[in-house]
Amino acid sequence: MFEARGIGISYGRKQVVHNVDLTLGAKDTVGLIGESGSGKTTILRALLGLVPVSSGELLFEGEPLDTMSRVSRRRFRASVQPVFQDGNEALNPRFSVDTILREGLAARSRETGAPDYTVAELLEQVGLDASLRGQRPHELSGGQRQRVSIARALAVGARYLVLDEPTSALDVSVQGKVIALLQRLAAENDLGYLLISHNLGVVRALCAESYVLRQGRVVEHAPTERLLTEPAEEYTRRLRDSMPQFPEQITRIWQAEGLRVAE
Ligand SMILES: Nc1ncnc2c1ncn2[C@@H]1O[C@H](COP(=O)(O)OP(=O)(O)O)[C@@H](O)[C@H]1O
Ligand SMILES: [Mg+2]
Repeated sequence: MFEARGIGISYGRKQVVHNVDLTLGAKDTVGLIGESGSGKTTILRALLGLVPVSSGELLFEGEPLDTMSRVSRRRFRASVQPVFQDGNEALNPRFSVDTILREGLAARSRETGAPDYTVAELLEQVGLDASLRGQRPHELSGGQRQRVSIARALAVGARYLVLDEPTSALDVSVQGKVIALLQRLAAENDLGYLLISHNLGVVRALCAESYVLRQGRVVEHAPTERLLTEPAEEYTRRLRDSMPQFPEQITRIWQAEGLRVAE
């Protein structure tokens, strides 16, 4: 889906991402971890086309993001959807949940002729009560907004999500529900994603492989479990030891509910 070849990204004269290589397959679940300020959000924004790369190449389905044809760009915009921290940034505050999802479905059917879902089906997919249809984003809880963001991504036909700390604004129990939802969508809808989290439990539960970023450079890339149990780099080990875990009690509840959360 995405390939970054030696990308560099600068804000003004300050280069914050250096020579980063990433390979993100269509159905891959990939984590991006690193200290605050290491460049995680910047890389995510570049993948969304919101920040230009200053060197190297960023390809979406084999085409450079910055010189894409209009047709490819439309396809890119529908395929790749962001889910941000509190689910606010991506949702129009003036619209009801119903309108937000209808708009998404309409955009989708303009592309393909027929939408995949109805609003009711979308709400059911993400486990939201149909009675919330008339609410506007600010009338919802953080967890509900996250679900609406994900439902909207499904409405427009997203095949790939880009998630920046999607659960960090949520209570632990609500985090669990959003994680379960993402796991299920990845398994059932062939959805892939790149996810940033500072919570080790979230990365372990959701990402088969992870990249470790340090001062704008990738220092390690491996299957998440191996990365965390046998880090090759001292930096990764220190990062792991400083990242918060889920409380053990919550982990046990999730495991009892069939959630894949590693020990
Ligand atoms: N809009 C911006 N203008 C200038 N510098 C920025 C901007 N956004 C981020 N930075 C800087 O780029 C670096 C990487 O930031 P960021 O990608 O947000 O890191 P992370 O998400 O890993 O915390 C930091 O040094 C940050 O101060
Ligand atoms: Mg960030």
